[in-house]
Amino acid sequence: MKTIRDVNVKGKVVLVRTDFNVPIEDGKITDDLRIRASLPTLEYLRENGAKKIIVISHLGRPEGKDKTLSLEPAAKALSKMISNVAFVDDVSGPDVEEAVSKMPKGGILLLQNLRFFAGEEKNSSEFIREIVDSTGAEIFVQDGFAVIHRAHASTSAIAEFLPVYAGLLLEKEITNLEKVMKNPAKPLLLILGGSKVDDKKPLIDAFSGAADKIAVGGKIAADGYPASEKVYVAEDFDEDESGAKLDIGPVATGEIAGYVANAKTIIWNGVLGKVEDPAYATASTIIAEEIGKKHDIVSVICGGDTTGFVENLMAEKPELKYSLVSTGGGAALEFLSGKTLPGLECVEQ
Ligand code: 3PG
Repeated sequence: MKTIRDVNVKGKVVLVRTDFNVPIEDGKITDDLRIRASLPTLEYLRENGAKKIIVISHLGRPEGKDKTLSLEPAAKALSKMISNVAFVDDVSGPDVEEAVSKMPKGGILLLQNLRFFAGEEKNSSEFIREIVDSTGAEIFVQDGFAVIHRAHASTSAIAEFLPVYAGLLLEKEITNLEKVMKNPAKPLLLILGGSKVDDKKPLIDAFSGAADKIAVGGKIAADGYPASEKVYVAEDFDEDESGAKLDIGPVATGEIAGYVANAKTIIWNGVLGKVEDPAYATASTIIAEEIGKKHDIVSVICGGDTTGFVENLMAEKPELKYSLVSTGGGAALEFLSGKTLPGLECVEQ
């Protein structure tokens, strides 16, 4: 895989696909890991003389333009980490052309949420060509590791127009995950939770060969999923007054803690309850602590909510250690399960 170190970026307009799909509550970013993780690539491009750095990303799953999912807060967060960051409320056309023309040398311009436009998820060549034309981009950097499992215009069709190089985050994630994939120590435990139920179900099948045990909590368990010899599904829950199942209960937590105690490799994607409410973060806290106390195993934490949750816990309890906290959720799991990822396939070899 060719990376930005294999191309001369000096004097070039570089288009960088990041994944700034960060959790936002009331306009405030509650975990900025994915934004921080983009810095090595942005700094490298600037230090190596890139003329203009145009950053593109999605945020959430909007249907059309949705102000609450604007990337402006991400631009503000980024501008606190690196200088000369601007934001434009569009992805192509006159406003973008004007914003690009005003950029200082080595400046960074973040465009609006790509998913405000239907062309992004349709993998439309026309949509991404307009972005290339409006920005004058000459090189494309694939650095949104967390979104490379999507065949979208900004991860896939873009390769029709520009040479694609891996950014430093993509390179780091792939290198680290490859280490986990190579002869993982057994037993291998996969813990699945979170709310993207439709995305997670196929992964249970994909991992049923490699994993010795799959433990299911979160919304997939609350909605009901068939258990089997290999797949354990939580059956007791903490509920609110309306009967909504918002965390897995003590029996399931104890069961999963038992699998953790046995495992030599653990992959965890998806929190086990509604952790943004501390009343329903009990199971995830216990499991995160049990994993983080085991320093002699390989532990991979992936998924936006899970990594944010674990990072906050690590800040409180520095004794907790994990082998890898990945910025990817579905992307990391699909990569680990051996699937072909469209955003990786188009990187120059
Ligand atoms: C993620 O958070 O896993 C990525 O940003 C991809 O988002 P998506 O599942 O909405 O495509």
